[in-house]
Amino acid sequence: MTLRVAVLASGNGSNLEALIERSQKPASRFRIEIVLCNIENAFALTRAHRANIPAMCIPHQKFASRKQFEESLLAALKPHNIQLVVLAGFMRILSPLFINAYPNAIINVHPSLLPAFPGAHAVRNALVSDAKKTGCTVHFVDKGVDTGPIIAQQEIPIFDDDIEETLQQRIAQAEHVLLPNVVERLANQAHGETKSPTF
Ligand code: GRF
Repeated sequence: MTLRVAVLASGNGSNLEALIERSQKPASRFRIEIVLCNIENAFALTRAHRANIPAMCIPHQKFASRKQFEESLLAALKPHNIQLVVLAGFMRILSPLFINAYPNAIINVHPSLLPAFPGAHAVRNALVSDAKKTGCTVHFVDKGVDTGPIIAQQEIPIFDDDIEETLQQRIAQAEHVLLPNVVERLANQAHGETKSPTF
């Protein structure tokens, strides 16, 4: 049995790539059935095509309302019988319409140690704060912004000479381990295994 996963992305898709790589390992128990992207020309779409994963661009600005945009996302997911939706750099807030369609089955990766530094500028906000550490978080998505139950976190030190790019890069490296580990753990749980993952 394999967990049927959808990945929603908006940009570079480096987290998508990490998930693709993990899913291709023989021992992996999840499979990426579809990638949805709301930005035309996003590199995430290229990564999906390269891996022969069905991918669709659903540009949010072409819809008159958030409701219509989300209905279109849901319609694209439906035929794939998705069991887990992974937001991997998906830069749209999802309303209860979408969230209620996948109860306890939507996760997000965020570049801070939530609840610290929620929102779109988490890395910059950590850097300009007095914080000596930040990190990344994988959490279930609820109706708030970056507020859902935390599944796993990885701490990253902030160095005196860090600039946004260097800190972002170190956080990204940690995300590329943490997120696939969480998806694999959820896949194992879904199949009734109690064995702990490696984090
Ligand atoms: C990641 O840092 C993630 O935490 C945030 O958006 C970024 C996406 O990067 N939500 P990528 O598109 O996966 O490269």
